Amino acid sequence: MKITFHGHACVEIVTDDGYTLLIDPFIKGNPKSDLTLDKKVDYILVTHGHKPHVGDMLELSKRNHAPIIAITELAKYAKKNGAESFAMNLGADHTFDFGYVKLMHSQHSSSIEIDGEDRYAGEACGFMIEANGKTVFHTGDTSNFGDMAIFGKTFNIDVACLPIGGLYTMNPLSAALCAQRLNAKHVIPIHYNTYPEIAQDPNEFAKLLPDNVVQILDSGQTFEI
Ligand code: NI
Repeated sequence: MKITFHGHACVEIVTDDGYTLLIDPFIKGNPKSDLTLDKKVDYILVTHGHKPHVGDMLELSKRNHAPIIAITELAKYAKKNGAESFAMNLGADHTFDFGYVKLMHSQHSSSIEIDGEDRYAGEACGFMIEANGKTVFHTGDTSNFGDMAIFGKTFNIDVACLPIGGLYTMNPLSAALCAQRLNAKHVIPIHYNTYPEIAQDPNEFAKLLPDNVVQILDSGQTFEI
């Protein structure tokens, strides 16, 4: 399985069977993105309705006939706007052709901007993804909360993608504590240095966890498990 960081919270997973999943596809207007809208994807997963997470989901879905996997309200919005979508809700799971997905709760707000107004977009969530015997957890935007320890006991997490930017999400110290709760073998820091207000040094974050746990990826870099 190949995991590639594309800036902000955008993470691509290519399974051993060759399926391409793109999480939080923020491409246009993302100062850290290395992608274009020509990107080929099989599935799009969106953690919540905020602009840098919804990103280009509608256009990518239409171009690729790729379903958007998201919480009910966001999936409904996508469908209404001509995209393909697959609605789930918190705690629910489903086995797709590429593997298994469970919608995990996160601690964050969620709304989607329509005609300049913020509208309800369901709850913010994370995705627990299992394929080819490997488990990746993209937490979405979140704080560090106690149930992370339950997630860590329930799933054998190979890679956790954790926000470290602070201000809108966990900061590096909270993310390190979260990584311990998740008992993740590896951690990829995300959601930092996209904008000045979420500037962080990922090397300082790496020092808070045992050697080789944290995998710092530049945009376009891949970590293989
Ligand atoms: Ni957000």
